[in-house]
Amino acid sequence: MSVELAGARVIVSGAAGGVGKATIDKLLACGARVCATDIDPAVTQHARQGSRGEVVTIVADVTKSADVDRIFACAEAAFGGVDCVVSNAASIVTKSVLDTTEDDWDRMLDTNAKSLFLMLKRALPTMMARRAGSIVATASISSVVGLPTQAAYAASKGAVLQLIRQTAVEYAGTGVRINAVGPGSITRTKILDSYLAGLDDPDAGAAAIKGAHPMGRWAEPEEVADAIVFLAGPTSTFITGQIIMVDGGFTAR
Ligand SMILES: NC(=O)c1ccc[n+]([C@@H]2O[C@H](COP(=O)([O-])OP(=O)(O)OC[C@H]3O[C@@H](n4cnc5c(N)ncnc54)[C@H](O)[C@@H]3O)[C@@H](O)[C@H]2O)c1
Repeated sequence: MSVELAGARVIVSGAAGGVGKATIDKLLACGARVCATDIDPAVTQHARQGSRGEVVTIVADVTKSADVDRIFACAEAAFGGVDCVVSNAASIVTKSVLDTTEDDWDRMLDTNAKSLFLMLKRALPTMMARRAGSIVATASISSVVGLPTQAAYAASKGAVLQLIRQTAVEYAGTGVRINAVGPGSITRTKILDSYLAGLDDPDAGAAAIKGAHPMGRWAEPEEVADAIVFLAGPTSTFITGQIIMVDGGFTAR
């Protein structure tokens, strides 16, 4: 997909690998200037200068407001501001509610939902002042359907979707759009492998997951990144408060 984003200044969290890394590659190809961040220092390997855009990197923990401030300061120092935020960082705990500990719960809600809250708090004031901006969060099929062994993860991803809808409506008149993508549990990245590792039989779990998605195949991180870039850019200017499911038909049944 070709989206013109020449000069757009974008923060992408969870950018060390998987969907985040695919997103920074696509944004760079569209001419964007990207501040890529992750708690995993591997993100620093993605710093580069493209023919039109560039990627700067910063290692940070998106559950901490001081780190979120550092991320924005990095983008502002490198590019002079932020036009778009992709809040994509997450982790997973594969447990039913009875097995979930208080620590598991806090970690899921902090990493997956509080991180978006902190990003919104930091991004909205300057975007509203410029009357332009786009925020895209990576939600999940678990935001809208119940799946076994995902108690705290599902709660966190449900919170992501509701926070997107709530803020999109509240700030709809300010020029800032706020949307989400909802991947199926179907992209073979670190987070999915960690989910499968928590199952009694990871191979059977993987086969069941693949079979449950009507398209019957694994998705590539790039297929999720395409939807993120669509929502980030000028291809979606009348879309706000929405979730685009990228799930091979899972939630269409
Ligand atoms: N892979 C799938 O099938 C699938 C399905 C549904 C939703 N998702 C969502 O897609 C998004 C991207 O995940 P992915 O599939 O690319 O997996 P991934 O594990 O490759 O990416 C998640 C990234 O978030 C980073 N991260 C975790 N905690 C962090 C913190 N506190 N601060 C900063 N960074 C942190 C990790 O280091 C990792 O690089 C996530 O929001 C995930 O929930 C993925």
